[in-house]
Amino acid sequence: MASNILLSLLLLAAASPAALAGFDVTQMLADKSQYGTFLKLLTQTKVAEEMNRLKTVSLLVLPDKAVKPIASLPADKQRLAVANHVLLKYFDPIQLGEMKDRTAMLPTLLSNSDKRLGVVNYTKANDGQMYFGAPGAACVAKLVKVVAARPYAVSIMEVSKAILPPALAGTGGPGRLPKVKPKSSNDEATAKSAPAPTAALK
Ligand SMILES: *[C@@H]1O[C@H](CO)[C@@H](O)[C@H](O)[C@H]1NC(C)=O
Repeated sequence: MASNILLSLLLLAAASPAALAGFDVTQMLADKSQYGTFLKLLTQTKVAEEMNRLKTVSLLVLPDKAVKPIASLPADKQRLAVANHVLLKYFDPIQLGEMKDRTAMLPTLLSNSDKRLGVVNYTKANDGQMYFGAPGAACVAKLVKVVAARPYAVSIMEVSKAILPPALAGTGGPGRLPKVKPKSSNDEATAKSAPAPTAALK
Protein backbone atom coordinates (compact mmCIF):
# COMPACT_ATOMS: atom_id res chain seq x y z
CA MET A 1 0.00 0.00 0.00
CA ALA A 2 2.57 2.52 1.15
CA SER A 3 4.89 1.59 -1.68
CA ASN A 4 2.05 2.18 -4.14
CA ILE A 5 1.63 5.69 -2.85
CA LEU A 6 5.34 6.28 -3.04
CA LEU A 7 5.40 5.00 -6.59
CA SER A 8 2.62 7.32 -7.71
CA LEU A 9 4.39 10.25 -6.07
CA LEU A 10 7.57 9.38 -7.93
CA LEU A 11 5.66 9.14 -11.20
CA LEU A 12 4.02 12.49 -10.50
CA ALA A 13 7.39 14.05 -9.75
CA ALA A 14 8.81 12.72 -13.00
CA ALA A 15 5.81 13.96 -14.96
CA SER A 16 5.77 17.51 -13.65
CA PRO A 17 8.97 18.60 -11.96
CA ALA A 18 8.05 22.26 -12.47
CA ALA A 19 4.81 21.94 -10.50
CA LEU A 20 6.65 20.49 -7.52
CA ALA A 21 9.46 23.01 -7.66
CA GLY A 22 7.03 25.94 -7.38
CA PHE A 23 6.70 28.43 -10.20
CA ASP A 24 8.84 30.74 -12.25
CA VAL A 25 7.06 33.97 -12.98
CA THR A 26 9.49 34.93 -15.74
CA GLN A 27 8.66 31.69 -17.56
CA MET A 28 4.95 32.42 -17.23
CA LEU A 29 5.46 35.79 -18.96
CA ALA A 30 8.18 34.74 -21.38
CA ASP A 31 5.99 34.33 -24.48
CA LYS A 32 3.89 37.45 -23.84
CA SER A 33 5.76 40.25 -25.57
CA GLN A 34 3.25 42.97 -24.62
CA TYR A 35 4.64 42.72 -21.05
CA GLY A 36 8.29 42.65 -22.16
CA THR A 37 9.35 45.85 -20.38
CA PHE A 38 7.69 44.89 -17.10
CA LEU A 39 9.30 41.44 -17.33
CA LYS A 40 12.71 43.07 -17.84
CA LEU A 41 12.09 45.26 -14.77
CA LEU A 42 11.03 42.21 -12.72
CA THR A 43 14.30 40.48 -13.58
CA GLN A 44 16.61 43.51 -13.26
CA THR A 45 15.23 44.48 -9.85
CA LYS A 46 15.36 40.82 -8.70
CA VAL A 47 11.71 41.10 -7.63
CA ALA A 48 11.07 38.02 -9.81
CA GLU A 49 13.43 35.97 -7.63
CA GLU A 50 11.68 37.15 -4.48
CA MET A 51 8.30 36.30 -5.99
CA ASN A 52 9.36 32.80 -6.92
CA ARG A 53 10.20 32.12 -3.28
CA LEU A 54 6.65 32.91 -2.12
CA LYS A 55 4.05 30.19 -1.64
CA THR A 56 1.15 32.23 -2.94
CA VAL A 57 1.37 35.46 -4.87
CA SER A 58 -0.41 37.69 -7.37
CA LEU A 59 1.35 39.94 -9.84
CA LEU A 60 -0.33 43.04 -11.22
CA VAL A 61 1.42 43.43 -14.53
CA LEU A 62 1.56 46.46 -16.84
CA PRO A 63 1.57 46.32 -20.63
CA ASP A 64 4.42 48.17 -22.37
CA LYS A 65 2.14 51.09 -23.21
CA ALA A 66 1.51 51.79 -19.50
CA VAL A 67 4.88 50.95 -17.95
CA LYS A 68 6.62 54.32 -18.41
CA PRO A 69 5.89 55.72 -14.91
CA ILE A 70 7.98 52.82 -13.52
CA ALA A 71 10.54 52.45 -16.31
CA SER A 72 11.46 56.15 -16.02
CA LEU A 73 12.23 55.97 -12.27
CA PRO A 74 15.80 55.72 -10.94
CA ALA A 75 16.90 52.11 -10.28
CA ASP A 76 16.41 52.14 -6.49
CA LYS A 77 12.85 53.43 -6.80
CA GLN A 78 12.15 51.02 -9.66
CA ARG A 79 12.67 48.08 -7.33
CA LEU A 80 10.22 49.49 -4.78
CA ALA A 81 7.69 50.37 -7.46
CA VAL A 82 7.80 46.90 -9.03
CA ALA A 83 7.56 45.27 -5.57
CA ASN A 84 4.37 47.25 -5.01
CA HIS A 85 2.75 45.32 -7.89
CA VAL A 86 3.23 41.98 -6.12
CA LEU A 87 0.40 40.99 -3.77
CA LEU A 88 1.41 38.56 -1.03
CA LYS A 89 -1.57 36.26 -1.63
CA TYR A 90 -3.22 34.47 -4.50
CA PHE A 91 -6.12 36.47 -5.94
CA ASP A 92 -8.12 36.08 -9.09
CA PRO A 93 -11.19 38.08 -10.14
CA ILE A 94 -13.51 35.47 -8.63
CA GLN A 95 -11.82 35.60 -5.24
CA LEU A 96 -11.68 39.38 -5.31
CA GLY A 97 -15.36 39.54 -6.22
CA GLU A 98 -16.30 37.19 -3.42
CA MET A 99 -14.63 39.19 -0.67
CA LYS A 100 -17.16 40.28 1.87
CA ASP A 101 -16.14 43.93 1.57
CA ARG A 102 -16.12 45.87 -1.67
CA THR A 103 -12.85 47.45 -0.66
CA ALA A 104 -9.76 46.12 1.13
CA MET A 105 -6.16 47.05 1.77
CA LEU A 106 -3.97 44.27 0.38
CA PRO A 107 -0.30 43.96 1.45
CA THR A 108 2.37 43.95 -1.27
CA LEU A 109 5.99 42.81 -1.40
CA LEU A 110 6.94 46.43 -0.73
CA SER A 111 5.64 45.98 2.83
CA ASN A 112 8.86 44.03 3.55
CA SER A 113 10.76 47.28 3.00
CA ASP A 114 8.09 49.76 4.04
CA LYS A 115 5.01 48.75 6.04
CA ARG A 116 3.25 52.03 5.45
CA LEU A 117 3.70 52.19 1.68
CA GLY A 118 3.40 48.48 0.98
CA VAL A 119 -0.36 48.14 0.60
CA VAL A 120 -2.77 48.67 -2.25
CA ASN A 121 -6.36 49.66 -2.03
CA TYR A 122 -8.61 47.22 -3.86
CA THR A 123 -12.09 48.55 -4.61
CA LYS A 124 -14.97 47.12 -6.60
CA ALA A 125 -17.02 49.82 -8.27
CA ASN A 126 -20.80 49.78 -8.58
CA ASP A 127 -20.56 48.49 -12.15
CA GLY A 128 -18.48 45.51 -10.98
CA GLN A 129 -15.19 46.87 -12.38
CA MET A 130 -12.25 46.22 -10.06
CA TYR A 131 -9.65 48.89 -9.29
CA PHE A 132 -6.37 49.16 -7.42
CA GLY A 133 -4.64 52.22 -6.05
CA ALA A 134 -1.88 53.22 -3.68
CA PRO A 135 -2.90 54.82 -0.38
CA GLY A 136 -3.00 58.57 -0.87
CA ALA A 137 -3.38 58.22 -4.64
CA ALA A 138 -6.47 57.77 -6.79
CA CYS A 139 -7.79 54.21 -7.02
CA VAL A 140 -7.73 54.10 -10.83
CA ALA A 141 -5.66 51.11 -11.96
CA LYS A 142 -8.34 48.99 -13.58
CA LEU A 143 -8.12 45.20 -13.55
CA VAL A 144 -8.06 44.42 -17.28
CA LYS A 145 -7.72 40.64 -17.43
CA VAL A 146 -6.10 37.49 -16.13
CA VAL A 147 -2.86 36.90 -18.02
CA ALA A 148 -1.90 33.56 -16.46
CA ALA A 149 -2.75 31.66 -13.28
CA ARG A 150 -2.04 28.49 -11.36
CA PRO A 151 -4.78 28.29 -8.77
CA TYR A 152 -4.16 28.77 -5.89
CA ALA A 153 -0.47 29.55 -5.98
CA VAL A 154 0.27 32.24 -8.53
CA SER A 155 -1.84 34.62 -10.52
CA ILE A 156 -0.82 37.28 -13.04
CA MET A 157 -3.37 39.98 -13.85
CA GLU A 158 -3.02 42.97 -16.15
CA VAL A 159 -3.84 46.42 -14.75
CA SER A 160 -4.28 49.59 -16.76
CA LYS A 161 -2.03 51.93 -14.75
CA ALA A 162 1.01 51.84 -12.47
CA ILE A 163 0.15 51.65 -8.76
CA LEU A 164 2.56 54.10 -7.17
CA PRO A 165 2.42 55.75 -3.76
CA PRO A 166 2.99 59.51 -4.14
CA ALA A 167 6.40 59.10 -2.43
CA LEU A 168 7.58 56.93 -5.33
CA ALA A 169 5.83 58.62 -8.21
CA GLY A 170 8.75 61.02 -8.54
CA THR A 171 7.45 63.49 -11.13
CA GLY A 172 6.54 67.07 -10.41
CA GLY A 173 7.76 66.91 -6.80
CA PRO A 174 8.68 70.14 -4.99
CA GLY A 175 12.41 69.38 -5.20
CA ARG A 176 12.39 69.20 -8.97
CA LEU A 177 14.83 71.50 -10.68
CA PRO A 178 13.73 73.77 -13.51
CA LYS A 179 14.83 72.71 -16.97
CA VAL A 180 18.23 74.08 -17.94
CA LYS A 181 18.20 76.08 -21.15
CA PRO A 182 20.50 74.82 -23.88
CA LYS A 183 23.75 76.77 -23.77
CA SER A 184 24.80 79.19 -26.47
CA SER A 185 26.83 78.05 -29.48
CA ASN A 186 30.01 79.21 -27.65
CA ASP A 187 30.43 75.89 -25.84
CA GLU A 188 29.97 73.87 -28.94
CA ALA A 189 32.63 75.83 -30.75
CA THR A 190 35.09 75.36 -27.86
CA ALA A 191 34.47 71.63 -27.81
CA LYS A 192 35.10 71.34 -31.52
CA SER A 193 38.35 73.29 -31.52
CA ALA A 194 39.80 71.62 -28.40
CA PRO A 195 42.82 69.43 -29.10
CA ALA A 196 42.42 65.68 -28.75
CA PRO A 197 43.12 64.73 -25.11
CA THR A 198 45.62 62.07 -26.11
CA ALA A 199 47.95 64.64 -27.70
CA ALA A 200 49.35 65.72 -24.29
CA LEU A 201 50.33 62.16 -23.42
CA LYS A 202 52.66 61.64 -26.35
C1 LIG B 1 -9.92 53.03 -1.41
O1 LIG B 1 -10.40 53.58 -2.63
C2 LIG B 1 -11.78 53.91 -2.61
C3 LIG B 1 -12.18 54.33 -4.01
O2 LIG B 1 -11.36 55.38 -4.49
C4 LIG B 1 -12.03 54.97 -1.58
O3 LIG B 1 -13.41 55.28 -1.52
C5 LIG B 1 -11.56 54.47 -0.20
O4 LIG B 1 -11.67 55.49 0.74
C6 LIG B 1 -10.10 54.01 -0.28
N1 LIG B 1 -9.75 53.40 0.98
C7 LIG B 1 -8.66 53.75 1.69
C8 LIG B 1 -8.48 53.05 2.98
O5 LIG B 1 -7.88 54.60 1.29
